[in-house]
Amino acid sequence: MPEPKHPEIDDLLRENRSFPPPAGLAASANVRDPGVYEKAASDPETFWAGFARELDWYTPWTRVLDWQPPHARWFLGGTLNACVNCVDRHLDGPRRDKPAIVWEGEPGDSRTLTYADLHREVSTFASVLKGLGVRRGDRVALYMPLVPELAIAMLACARIGAVHSVVFGGFSAESLRGRINDAQATVLVTADGGWRRGSVVPLKQMADEALGGTPSIRHVVVVRRTGGSEAPVRMSRGRDHWYHELMQEASAECEPERMDAEDMLYVLYTSGTTGKPKGIVHTTGGYLTQVYATTKWVFDLKDDDVYWCTADIGWVTGHSYVVYGPLANGATVVMYEGAPDWPGRDRFWDIVERLKVTIFYTAPTAIRAFMRWGDQWPGKHNLGSLRLLGSVGEPINPEAWIWYHRHIGGDRCPIVDTWWQTETGAIMITPLPGLTHTKPGSATRAFPGISAEIRTSEGAPVEVGGGLLALTRPWPSMLRGIYGDPERYVSQYWSRWTNDVYFTGDGAKRDGSGFFWLLGRVDDVLNVAGHRIGTMEVESALVDHPQVAEAAVVGRAHEIKGQALAAFVTVKEGTPTSDALVAELKAHVAKKIGVVARPDDIIFAADLPKTRSGKIMRRLLRDIAEGKTVGDTTTLADPAVVAKLKDQYRSVEE
Ligand code: WTA
Repeated sequence: MPEPKHPEIDDLLRENRSFPPPAGLAASANVRDPGVYEKAASDPETFWAGFARELDWYTPWTRVLDWQPPHARWFLGGTLNACVNCVDRHLDGPRRDKPAIVWEGEPGDSRTLTYADLHREVSTFASVLKGLGVRRGDRVALYMPLVPELAIAMLACARIGAVHSVVFGGFSAESLRGRINDAQATVLVTADGGWRRGSVVPLKQMADEALGGTPSIRHVVVVRRTGGSEAPVRMSRGRDHWYHELMQEASAECEPERMDAEDMLYVLYTSGTTGKPKGIVHTTGGYLTQVYATTKWVFDLKDDDVYWCTADIGWVTGHSYVVYGPLANGATVVMYEGAPDWPGRDRFWDIVERLKVTIFYTAPTAIRAFMRWGDQWPGKHNLGSLRLLGSVGEPINPEAWIWYHRHIGGDRCPIVDTWWQTETGAIMITPLPGLTHTKPGSATRAFPGISAEIRTSEGAPVEVGGGLLALTRPWPSMLRGIYGDPERYVSQYWSRWTNDVYFTGDGAKRDGSGFFWLLGRVDDVLNVAGHRIGTMEVESALVDHPQVAEAAVVGRAHEIKGQALAAFVTVKEGTPTSDALVAELKAHVAKKIGVVARPDDIIFAADLPKTRSGKIMRRLLRDIAEGKTVGDTTTLADPAVVAKLKDQYRSVEE
C-alpha cells in the first residue's frame, strides 16, 4: 500500500506556533513531572497498577497483565464493580451531596443529581432490571435521548453485572434491530422521544419498528421524556413498561455484583470496513483504570471543576468521558440533551456561562460550525469560568484550533487534542496540560504508558515522517474482542504486521520533536462530523434499493463536517434518474442505517471506473468528488468513464 498522500500535512508540519502550558495551571496540575513519560515507559505495568490502586476493589489482582498476543488480560484475579467505583465510593465524604450530573433539556428544563441521588436512582433501576429477569452477563440495549436515565441505566447494568449496549438515537430502527439481535439483548430501555431542534425524535415508535424482529427481547422499559401528542406511544401489554411506574415499586437497595476485572462491561457497535458494524467489547478493570487515569491527567480534573463533554452517550466518547471517566473521579458532569443552535447559536456558551463550566470537551466539527456562525455568539457571554478545552473525534485543522483557543478559551486555556478510538476505549495520544507545549493541529504525544509508532506498510518503524499509526504494546482499556466474532478481532486489528502490533486504521506523521499529526483513516471508514461511517455499510444500503445496480461511496473534504459522503450510483437498466430518485435514495440510507449516514451527494453513473479485473477504483472516485485532477488511470478498463463522471459531478454541484 502506498503511503497515504496528504499535501495538507506538509502545511501542518510547517506549523511552528507553540503554546506553553499556562503558568498557573502548570504549577498546580495533577501531573507536573516531565519524567513521567520515561518512568511509565520503563515499567508500564507498575504505572497502570498505580492508577488501578486508586479505584475500589473487593479483591486485589494477583497479576497486572497477561499478554498472549493478540489477547490481553489486565488485573488478573481482581474483582470490582464499575458502578460502585462511579457512585458508591463517593458517598462517604463531602462528595455525597456534590452534584454528579447537572442536566439540561433542550426545552430548558433541568435536573441536578447529587452523588447520593445518583446512588438511589441507579440502585432502584438496578432492582427494576433484576425484577425483569436481567441476570449477570445478560445484554441490555439502550436507545435513548441524552437524559440522566441513560447514564442511570448504564450504571444500573454495571451494578448487576449486565452488559449494556447503547445504540445512538440517530440510528434507524433497522440498525437498532441488527444490534439487538447481534448481542441477543433481553431488555430494551428507550424513551417516548427526545428533543432535537424543537422537534421530537420518536424513539419509541422507531423502537417498535425494530421490535418486530427481535425475538430475544422480553421487556421494554420506556422513559417518559417528551410526553404530549407529538410522539404518541403504544404500550404493548406484558412487554412494555413505563420507567417511572417500575421505579415506584422497586427497592432502592441493590447489592452490587462482584465482577472479575475481565468481565464484560459493555459492547458498543461501530463501523468498520465491512458492511456489518462490529460490537466492540470492553471489560471492567482495565477499562475503568484507563478512563479514570486519562480523565484525571488529561483534563487535569479537580474536585471543584464543572466538566462538560458535549458528546452523545451513544458514542464511545460519551461512554468514557461523560459517564465512566468523570464519575469514577467524582466529578460534576454537565449533560445537555439537544442541539447547539437551539434556540440560538449561543446555546453552548449560555450553558457555559450559567453553569460556570471549567472544562469543555467537544469535536472539531462543532468548532468549525461555531467559527462559521461567527464570533458574536460566544462574544455575548462571559466564558471566564473555562480553564481547559479539549477536542476529539477527528483531526482539528490549525485554523479551527486557533479560533477555539482565542474565542472560547480567551487565549488563556490550554487545548488538549485527544486521539483515540472506540477500540482503544480511552485517550491514547494527547497533550498533558501542565507539561506539553502544544502545536495547533497536533495531538502531540502518546499518554504515558502507551506506546505508539508510525510504521510503513511493510512494518518498518518511521521515526520522522508519515505512515500508518500502530500501537505496539497492550493497554488496559483496549478492546477485548468483537462480540461473537473472535476471528475478525484478529484479522481486523492484529494482522497487518506481527500479531502483537495493533493497526489503528489511521494515517499519521511524526515530526522532529516526536509529535504525532493525525491524518484520518486509510481504510474504508469515513469520519463524517466526527461520526464513524463505513463506506461498505452505505453501499449495501444503496444496493438494497430495488432500482440500484451498483454503488460506490467515498469521502470528500467538507468545510465543517471534515468529510462528506459522496455516492456514485449505477441504476438498473431502464430506470430513469431524477431528483426524486436522489431524495428517495438518501431517505433509503437513512432508513437502513440512520440519518448520520445519509449521503451528501448522489451521482448517477452509467459506469463506475474499474480495473480490468473489475475492481472499483475508489481513489479515482475520491479525486472526482474532491474536484481534483484525477490520478493515474492507466489501469482502467475504460478510461473514458472518468471524463464522463467528472462532467456529471460538476452538473450535480451546479
Ligand atoms: C478519528 C472517537 C484525529 C480517528 C473517540 C480514529 C481523530 C477515529 C482524533 C475513531 C483526533 C479520533 N485527531 N483523528 N484527536 N480522535 N479521531 O471510534 O480516525 O468514533 O480512528 O472514536 O476517529 O473514531 P471513534
